[in-house]
Amino acid sequence: MKATAQAPSNIAFIKYWGKRDEKLRIPANSSISMNLSNTYTTTTVDFDTSYKVDTFFLEGKRVTGEEALRVFKHLDRLRNLAKMNLRAKVTSSNTFPKASGIASSASGFAALTLAASRAAGLTLNTKDLSILARIGSGSACRSIPDGFVEWKTASDSNKSYAVSLHPPDYWAICDLVAIVGTKTKKVSSSEGHALAESSPFYKTRLQSMPKKIREIKTALKKRDFTKFGEVLEAEAVSMHTVMMTSNPPLFYWLPATLKVMQEVWSLRDRGVECYFTIDAGPNIHVICEFKNAKGIQTALSKVKGVKSVLLNKPAPGARLI
Ligand code: DP6
Repeated sequence: MKATAQAPSNIAFIKYWGKRDEKLRIPANSSISMNLSNTYTTTTVDFDTSYKVDTFFLEGKRVTGEEALRVFKHLDRLRNLAKMNLRAKVTSSNTFPKASGIASSASGFAALTLAASRAAGLTLNTKDLSILARIGSGSACRSIPDGFVEWKTASDSNKSYAVSLHPPDYWAICDLVAIVGTKTKKVSSSEGHALAESSPFYKTRLQSMPKKIREIKTALKKRDFTKFGEVLEAEAVSMHTVMMTSNPPLFYWLPATLKVMQEVWSLRDRGVECYFTIDAGPNIHVICEFKNAKGIQTALSKVKGVKSVLLNKPAPGARLI
């Protein structure tokens, strides 16, 4: 019983930071994202009677410890649903090097959920796949549906899942990821979420979320790039304000992260529209219209401390291959 799936990573324009239910990974607020065309994970899950234990291989190397346990726990969820008890071999690879500093939990848990569910003999719809992927890693639920995506918060686990707002070809915008740091972060996003509440600004942030979601969805509908960019950049700064003021504080930026921000502002001053967003790490995502992508990519590559710049277009969600 074997299946292979591929799933993209995604970049959130309105971020998920803080949980309503930690175990079930129900977010404190809804979020909006876009799937990325060049950063995806391919995962094969093979359930077989010959396996005595679950094993997990990433880029050909056996993974043990916490990282592997999180994968095996996810397999348990699928086994329970399928009412079977076979052990599995999970083989996974990313199109981006692990050392690139790009988080792989979104693409990883989306691909794992789809491959494992099919290998276990289940045929789940997008909603159910998204809910299951969410329990593995919150942001993974947004990598299940296509293109531009909304993940709604809800009081009930069965109501918090991601849906596609627009297909990938809806809008020719892209995400240029400037890689400035490649070290594994000291505080994972899973741990970081739990600290959000300790920031005095967290409540204010949560109150501002419904309006931000409305604004970004309207900008998306109108393909109003200026409004879209203004909202997403301010939103990233808002999330990082909460991170930096939590207890203990979380500072994910490096000097080169700020240098890229300055380059983005300077490009805008010169009439080249682009806006930045940053997740729980130092790498910085620059969002621009596709017609400006090459020029901006060249400009970002020249910023001191930038190791490489990856270009991503909007992409479909998880697929069986
Ligand atoms: C900053 O999905 O990695 O990237 O649910 O604990 O696995 P867990 O967290 P994760 O958090 C992502 C946080 C973020 C913002 C976002 O992608 O919305």
